[in-house]
Amino acid sequence: MNSPLVSLLRLVLCSFLFRVPIKRETMAATEIARQAGEGARAVPLAGHVGFDSMPDQLVNKSVSHGFCFNILCVGETGLGKSTLMDTLFNTKFEGEPMQHNQPGVQLKSNTYELQESNVRLKLNVVNTVGFGDQINKEDSYKPIVEFIDTQFEAYLQEELKIKRTLHSYHDTRIHTCLYFISPTGHSLKSLDLVTMKKLDSKVNIIPIIAKSDAISKSELTKFKIKITSELVSNGVQIYQFPTDDETVAEINSTMNGHLPFAVVGSTEEVKIGNKMVRARQYPWGTVQVENENHCDFVKLREMLIRVNMEDLREQTHTRHYELYRRCKLEEMGFKDTDPDSKPFSLQETYEAKRNEFMGELQKKEEEMRQMFVQRVKEKEAELKEAEKELHEKFDRLKKLHQDEKKKLEDKKKSLDDELNTFKQKKTAAELLQSQAQQAGGSTTLKRDKERKNFF
Ligand code: GTP
Ligand code: MG
Repeated sequence: MNSPLVSLLRLVLCSFLFRVPIKRETMAATEIARQAGEGARAVPLAGHVGFDSMPDQLVNKSVSHGFCFNILCVGETGLGKSTLMDTLFNTKFEGEPMQHNQPGVQLKSNTYELQESNVRLKLNVVNTVGFGDQINKEDSYKPIVEFIDTQFEAYLQEELKIKRTLHSYHDTRIHTCLYFISPTGHSLKSLDLVTMKKLDSKVNIIPIIAKSDAISKSELTKFKIKITSELVSNGVQIYQFPTDDETVAEINSTMNGHLPFAVVGSTEEVKIGNKMVRARQYPWGTVQVENENHCDFVKLREMLIRVNMEDLREQTHTRHYELYRRCKLEEMGFKDTDPDSKPFSLQETYEAKRNEFMGELQKKEEEMRQMFVQRVKEKEAELKEAEKELHEKFDRLKKLHQDEKKKLEDKKKSLDDELNTFKQKKTAAELLQSQAQQAGGSTTLKRDKERKNFF
């Protein structure tokens, strides 16, 4: 959608939804002058044609289609995020407080269908669960950045589809981030600065001082100045209410000076005078949520919902999503012009990218082949080395075995010789013994005979 058309639609929607008066003739004249400025010839009409109903047609179409708005609440545990959402939309969204013993930050998203008059709003409230609960908070911003990018990516994927259904697509891109600052009265915490810095190119940040009833009036003024100067000195870009639209320029520029808004949330109703108002009651008095002398809640609601909701949606699409899309497409190799400043055709880009991819694939294949050959060679060398070692070991063992065998054979031979010698000696000894016995036997016989003769 081109921007004059969007401005036109915004103007008409403002008049339709928020009863802001609009001068149709002024718009038609502006449009003609714009076209004339672009070289088109201004032609007067002889009578009523009917295209002045275009704004009404757009309004009717938008109203019947309904709107969506996605809010991300970032802030430490128990800073009143849920209470503020309930107070802002005058309803009760979620019941239970979040878990605060998580190892990391998690994002929890809830979608609600709201209706005011005949306007339907699909509201998506995303909460950061466990933000600031960890001892090491270094990576606390990462899940938030990833979540925002995931929503952009989903939209980009839908846009890149051949069969797109963007008109019925549930757009989950974050339109605004309400950043809840703790009412310390001192300065921003490093966690706040780091997180806002990481988010500022991805989302419209509206910083708010939470539970501002905990801080005195004079301290609050100083705190706001301190926060603003810290944001500026750290280069954090927060969302500025637009001042280019003359119908809202004045209020928006005044409100820019009130940032960050100091808010109080409560769904409790208290009777003040003869009116029931939302307030927080304390032993010493009552803080009225919608009393501008007590806090900036009304300013926030006016700016966020009644005046700039459409601008927040538009900025998300034209600034933050556009940046994401551009970076992503550039990463993929798409460009608007070639080096000769000629329009870059999609076909050429595709072919160039395909060739580049095929080249890379071939290179990778070649590298892998080389690596494989190298690995095979290395393995072969390793196996050869192992085989050689085995042969050597075998030879060594064989030689050892032969030596051992030879030694044993020698020993056996010497033992056989010894045995033979022993046997020979034994035979000789036995012979001698038997001879001796024979000789000994004949002497005894002779002596016995002699003894007999004697008697
Ligand atoms: P988690 O989701 O658990 O991180 O908390 P939260 O940030 O959603 O806070 P929640 O709205 O649950 O409020 C926490 C407590 O703070 C409740 O007791 C609220 O009543 C109280 N509270 C909410 N808003 C305010 C406020 O503006 N001022 C004061 N003083 N207390 C508030
Ligand atoms: Mg909560």
